[in-house]
Amino acid sequence: MTTELPAITITRPDDWHLHVRDGAMLASVLPDTARQFARAIIMPNLKPPVATVEQALAYRDRILAARPAGSDFTPLMTLYLTEQTTPEEIRRASECAHVYAVKYYPAGATTNAASGVTDLERVMPVFEAMQETGLPLLMHGEVTDGEIDIFDREAVFIDRHLSVLVKRFPELPMVLEHITTAEAASFVEDGPANLAATITAHHLLLNRNALFEGGLRPHHYCLPILKRELNRQALVRVATGGNPKFFLGTDSAPHPKSAKESDCGCAGMYTARTALELYAEVFDQAGALDRLEAFASFNGPDFYRLPRNTGSVTLCRDTLDIPDEVDFGGQPGVPFRAGGRTAWRMA
Ligand code: NCD
Ligand code: ZN
Repeated sequence: MTTELPAITITRPDDWHLHVRDGAMLASVLPDTARQFARAIIMPNLKPPVATVEQALAYRDRILAARPAGSDFTPLMTLYLTEQTTPEEIRRASECAHVYAVKYYPAGATTNAASGVTDLERVMPVFEAMQETGLPLLMHGEVTDGEIDIFDREAVFIDRHLSVLVKRFPELPMVLEHITTAEAASFVEDGPANLAATITAHHLLLNRNALFEGGLRPHHYCLPILKRELNRQALVRVATGGNPKFFLGTDSAPHPKSAKESDCGCAGMYTARTALELYAEVFDQAGALDRLEAFASFNGPDFYRLPRNTGSVTLCRDTLDIPDEVDFGGQPGVPFRAGGRTAWRMA
């Protein structure tokens, strides 16, 4: 007698926050995402940043060229907001069929955020133009103030900045990216309809103990940094709770092994290889597998006012081994949960 593995079939999902880099790295990592997701919002933090429509279109061409043969994966491009971004560029972006959002990085907040914004007041005319044209604002929601404890930077961003922005821009679609705290979960939950949030698999699975498990663990270092267990539980509650304001965004952020295992290691976890499987684990553990589809496949496109995907993917409750290392464009990289296994597997 063969026993059928428990399985779940959902509409093809999308990743609403993804780093794929460029060049050889892009060619190595893109197939992992293209296998699981129909579309992804592509982060613009290259060096130099993807700050204009022209640069976004050129980057899009490089991504399309890196797709595996036969893949219909669609990159949804974003612009990197700098203090030089003009309202005219926003209007061009809103008229461009391939640019879907603008990403705000506080200057210095994370990888390649040096060209970000030092003072939000300087970009208010740009936000006005985005509100007029309906181009969504994606926010790295952390203050960079060295006096603020790194574990408090998201909550302080909400207090100081986001609470003001939502009042000032009632019509601007805003996404608080990769939320990590109970404060962010509640703020978005109770906030206006034009405010949503993405949640990563790693922030749903790990708390900050994972940074120090048996020693210093650079592959668990990302930004915003992992938080306390209470925060993780709040994220699981909102992700699996059926509220359409929360959706899937992996923030998969590949760095070569040598850049992670270093005196001053880079922030970012590479979850793209098994992203959907990891989210399935979270929803399964929460007894909410029936809500995975909305989180992964419906809430994002509904917020961005894009059609939902057609087609489906199937996941089985079966293990999948994760290698110790993968190739990142000719250099070794360490995937999330390297040497371990997932509890679900894409069929
Ligand atoms: C991201 C990266 O490496 O580009 N790193 C990360 O830890 N998430 C940048 C970011 O999204 O903060
Ligand atoms: Zn990111």
